Amino acid sequence: MAWKRKDLVSMQDTEAAEITEVLDTAESMKEIATREIKKVPTLRGKTIVNLFYEASTRTRTSFEIAGKWLSADVINFSGSGSSAEKGESFLDTAKNIEAMSPDVVVVRHKAPGGPALLAKHLKCSVINAGDGAHEHPTQALLDLLTIRQKKGHLEGLNVTIVGDITHSRVARSDIHAMRKMGMTVTVAGPPTLIPPACQDMGVKVSHRLEEAIAHADVIMMLRLQHERMTGGFIPSLREYSRVWGLTLDRLTHCRPDVLIMHPGPVNRGVELSPEVADSQYSVILDQVTNGVAVRMAVLYLLAGSRAA
Ligand code: CP
Repeated sequence: MAWKRKDLVSMQDTEAAEITEVLDTAESMKEIATREIKKVPTLRGKTIVNLFYEASTRTRTSFEIAGKWLSADVINFSGSGSSAEKGESFLDTAKNIEAMSPDVVVVRHKAPGGPALLAKHLKCSVINAGDGAHEHPTQALLDLLTIRQKKGHLEGLNVTIVGDITHSRVARSDIHAMRKMGMTVTVAGPPTLIPPACQDMGVKVSHRLEEAIAHADVIMMLRLQHERMTGGFIPSLREYSRVWGLTLDRLTHCRPDVLIMHPGPVNRGVELSPEVADSQYSVILDQVTNGVAVRMAVLYLLAGSRAA
């Protein structure tokens, strides 16, 4: 099945069949990482521009690696050091980039809706690499791929997402994607970090960590997104960590086959103890590895196989 869509902007508007198509394609792409020469000609002659207006380690690097392994030309653009600093608008910048004929623009921006704006105005494909606290669709896809690899299936699994849900684009994309794949999602955190709108997304809400993680197949721990906070959401980091931090001691009350996930970057000793981050339960680096395969799959489905 070829993807018909031009862009990947959100998990909210992506169907379960499309998600499965990405995961299956990513599975077939994973083998490229094991080759001595990690290159296939799939996107030869295509140009991908990474347009990043916010900091990134994993997403930008993996999109670059993904594009290069598929033989595309990849250009990295940072907001800082560009003519945005001279007052050029986001849309004008994107239109000027498009005037140089890229096939795909991968965009990260602090404004929710930034990628959707570009998708509306640009003829080339647009991929959302994170827009404010709105969505991060390829993160959700790599999370699903990791869970499917480890558990063998997705439907019927219990996932608990813990921490700063309010400011997390990962939580929003994960919730949309996981619900579509038939998973049960619980969000847990202090009331100040759980938006009331969560109830409308079909998730359970808990304000007690032990209760929320007791029956989870997967625990997704989130970082406090200080860069998006405008007020005092927690009494102190020490207090937050004491109540909401995941430790080996707390894990003893969980399922023995529980998976611990985190989108990164991890703040060790805050949401997650170092012992948990490095434990046999942790699949955090598997998520990063799968990020390359998922992004290869998305680039291929948008730029290499899309039906006219
Ligand atoms: N998970 C994630 O988006 O990480 P980066 O901010 O490093 O890209």
